Amino acid sequence: MSGPLIIAIDGPAAAGKGTLARRMAAELGLPYLDTGLLYRAVGRRVLDRAGDPRDATVATAEALALSPADLERQDLRTPEAALAASGVAAIPGVRAALLEFQRNFGRSRGAVLDGRDIGTVVFPDASVKFFITASPEARAQRRWLEMTAAGQAIPLAQVEAETRQRDKQDAERATAPMRPAEDALVLDTTALDANAAFVAVMAQLRSRLGALGVTIA
Ligand code: C5P
Repeated sequence: MSGPLIIAIDGPAAAGKGTLARRMAAELGLPYLDTGLLYRAVGRRVLDRAGDPRDATVATAEALALSPADLERQDLRTPEAALAASGVAAIPGVRAALLEFQRNFGRSRGAVLDGRDIGTVVFPDASVKFFITASPEARAQRRWLEMTAAGQAIPLAQVEAETRQRDKQDAERATAPMRPAEDALVLDTTALDANAAFVAVMAQLRSRLGALGVTIA
């Protein structure tokens, strides 16, 4: 294997990618990038201007104007920001504007990145690629539990409807649709808790890296 270690983690909304990716990065001593935050921040900037996230001119201008402070906002995790993110994410100009940042992030020291198109577009040559999924019901239930625990009152049915809508938009868009890379390791976590999913992913990672001649602790 040549170059730094890049681990791509893609999959649908609320599949547990972020939790897995963060823990894997800590375990391996690699930087971690949640690429969904970039799209959420662009979506927020468009909403701030009372713009339509599907307006290519407005969304592309906001993506080009994105600054590090935008990623520190506290309102990026709301359902409204998620849907706006999915809207702007279908626009080729927005994706192009965010591409170099993502590539530069991983270039020097390697990285674990999670998103929708990391293994297919951002790092098609990633050392190891995962596609993490779970049934729509299980994903909605997990997200709903998280939101309820954080004090957000929202019906489970609404969370499930929004999750399905976002997955559909993300999978059906013409540019960089969400799909497993041909060489991705696919893990269905429907029947696994967060710890069991981590153990399963680390076992697959060790085996894939071993085949590349790389050993990790
Ligand atoms: O991962 P997260 O749910 O935060 O992503 C929010 C939205 O950003 C997704 O629904 C998707 O539309 C978009 N996204 C994307 N490509 C990525 C990461 C996120 O299109 N690499």
